[in-house]
Parts: sequence; structure tokens; C-alpha cells
Amino acid sequence: MSVHIGAAPGEIAERVLLPGDPMRAKWIAENFLDDARCYTEVRGMLGFTGTWQGRRVSVQGSGMGMPSASIYTHELINEYGVTSVIRIGSCGALAADLNLGDVLAAIGSATDSNMNRARFDGLIDYAPVADFGLLRTAVDVAERRGVAMRVGPILAADAFYTDRPDLYDALAQYGVLAVEMESAAIYTTAARYGARALTILTVSDHIKREERMDSARREKGFGDMVRIGLDTAIA
Ligand code: HPA
Repeated sequence: MSVHIGAAPGEIAERVLLPGDPMRAKWIAENFLDDARCYTEVRGMLGFTGTWQGRRVSVQGSGMGMPSASIYTHELINEYGVTSVIRIGSCGALAADLNLGDVLAAIGSATDSNMNRARFDGLIDYAPVADFGLLRTAVDVAERRGVAMRVGPILAADAFYTDRPDLYDALAQYGVLAVEMESAAIYTTAARYGARALTILTVSDHIKREERMDSARREKGFGDMVRIGLDTAIA
């Protein structure tokens, strides 16, 4: 096992879906995968391996925020030989033309996190981006499934609750679609260790309009996202 994942060598597939919520990992394992088996319960951050259309896939909770997401991404790649990491999660929309339940893929990730500033000694504003091949596959898969998936930049924020909504407005003026809390660290960690990463999100709330999704819509929207993530993982 690694420091934070209790799997034996070989128990994790090369392609991993990474929801923030470990209970969502369980929900995906139970409702989408065949022959799913739990390989870790360390810190309650559940991980499962099963098959999707006959191909081996794992789904691992990452926790909330970039420190947590970077730990799981690092160990999956470096300790378990994972080659593709696809984050699936929820986001708050910043763009006026996004609605609750919409699915989007993050081509790149602006961030207020200090992790990359520390990494580059404050001298470089590193640009965390999605793997082009995974993104292209996800766009094709979404089209095939009839899901109108938006592609654009997002914000990965350290804080869920902000005192500076004006900064969200400014980012929206630069085409930033939505805010979540993990993608920049996942993209950066994957790039550093030679793996591929992508983030696919469902809009669970709208920051400007102060709307929130109810649970029925959440399930349907998340289902589309999970299927796109799984199809992309095995492509
Ligand atoms: N902020 C940050 N992350 C999120 C949000 C939000 O409003 N909604 C879902 N994930």
C-alpha cells in the first residue's frame, strides 16, 4: 500500500476516475461498473476497481481541495502506475449562459492556489492544462451520447467560501466558465509525472444566480458525466 491508499500492487487499473466524494466513488462502482471490488478504505477515501464494457477501470475518491487531490493523484501515478486520471465532479457556474445540470470539460485551470507558486519559486505562473488526447476523446464521446458538453477554462479555488466575488466576475469576463477546487493540482501532478489528466464537471450551482441543483437533477446530470468519463477512460 502507499501512504494514503490501501491497495496491493496491481489492484488499481491504469485508468482511474477521480470523484471528490468517496461516496460518489461507491455510487459509481455500484451503479456503473461490473464486478467492482473495494481496494481501499484508508481515511474513508474509498477506491474500487471493476470493469466498464469489459475494460478495467478504477474509481477513487480524491477528497476536497488541491492538497488532498494532489496526494491521491501523486500516489496513483507513482505508486500504482496509473496513466490516466479523469476527475469527475461538481462546479459552481460563473458563465451567464451555463445552467444547472450542464456538463463541461476543463481545457485549463486558473488557480489562486499557492502550490504552483511554491513549486516554481514564485517566478513562473504555470498553466495547468488538460491532456489534449483525453479532451478530444471526451468531446467525441459526449457528441456520440448527445450531451452538449461545453469546453473551456475554469478556476480551481482554494476556498469554497469567498470574500471576493468580484474576482469571480472578473474571471467570467475572461471566459472562465466555472469554479471547483481540484483540477489545477490534478493537471499539474499528472504533467509532472508523465500521466494524462482531464476534468469533467456538472454544474451543481450557479454563483451569480444563487441557484442550486435538487437531488433528482443532480443524479441525472452526474450520470451523463460518469458515462462520458468511463467511455473516455477506456477509449
Ligand atoms: N465553489 C467551489 N467549488 C464548487 C462549487 C463552488 O461554488 N460548487 C461545486 N463545487
